[in-house]
Amino acid sequence: MPETYKELLKGNQEWEKQVLEKMPDFFEKLSHGQSPNYLWIGCSDSRVPATQVTNTQPGSIFVQRNIANMVVSTDLNLLSVVYYAVKELKVKHIIVCGHYGCGGVAAAMGNKNYGFLNKWLRHIKDVYRLHQAELDAIEDETQRVNRFVEINVQEQVTNLAKVSFIQEEWEKGEFPYIHGWVYNLKDGLIKDLDLTVNSMKQLPKVYQIDYKK
Ligand code: CO
Repeated sequence: MPETYKELLKGNQEWEKQVLEKMPDFFEKLSHGQSPNYLWIGCSDSRVPATQVTNTQPGSIFVQRNIANMVVSTDLNLLSVVYYAVKELKVKHIIVCGHYGCGGVAAAMGNKNYGFLNKWLRHIKDVYRLHQAELDAIEDETQRVNRFVEINVQEQVTNLAKVSFIQEEWEKGEFPYIHGWVYNLKDGLIKDLDLTVNSMKQLPKVYQIDYKK
C-alpha cells in the first residue's frame, strides 16, 4: 500500500510503461474519445474499483460512486452522470454494484450519531424501514447487514427505473438494462442478483410516466 502520495505518481509511471509494453497504441486510441457500454454505480469503498474487479480497461466503464451506492432522486451529481451516460454515451447497461460488509449500510442499520453523515445515512435508513420485517427477523448481525446490502441494491435499481429520462429511453427501445450486483470482499467475486429492469412496467403504477399524454 502506498505510504505517501508520491508513490501514486511513481505507480502511475510504472503502469504507463506496462500498458505501453502490451498495447503500444492504447493511449493514442483512447485519447480520441470514450464510448463505454456500461455505467457503474458503486460504493466509494476503496476495495471495489469498477474496472479492476471486472478485469476491464480504462474506456470501458463510466463510473459514479458514493457511500453505499445510492440513487437519490435529488442528487444532481449522480443524475448528471446518469443523464450523460444514457443520453450521450448511450450505455446499454447500468450496473448498481453494492458489496457485502458495506460500512455505509452497516452504519445506517444502527443508531450511532455520525454527525454530518446522518443526512446521507437517512436515505439508507429509509430502505431499512421498507424491509424492516424481513431484516429484523435475521438474528445474525453480519447476515442482516449482508441481506440489507442486497435489498439496498434492489431499491437503488428501482430508484433508477423511476428516473424520467430513463423511462423516456424505454419508450424508444429496450436500453438501458439496469442490473443489481453485489461484490464479495472476501473472495473477490460478484453475485448477480438477477433483477434486471428495462421497462417501467416493472415499477408500481404510480411511478410510470405516461408519455402519450
Ligand atoms: Co460500501
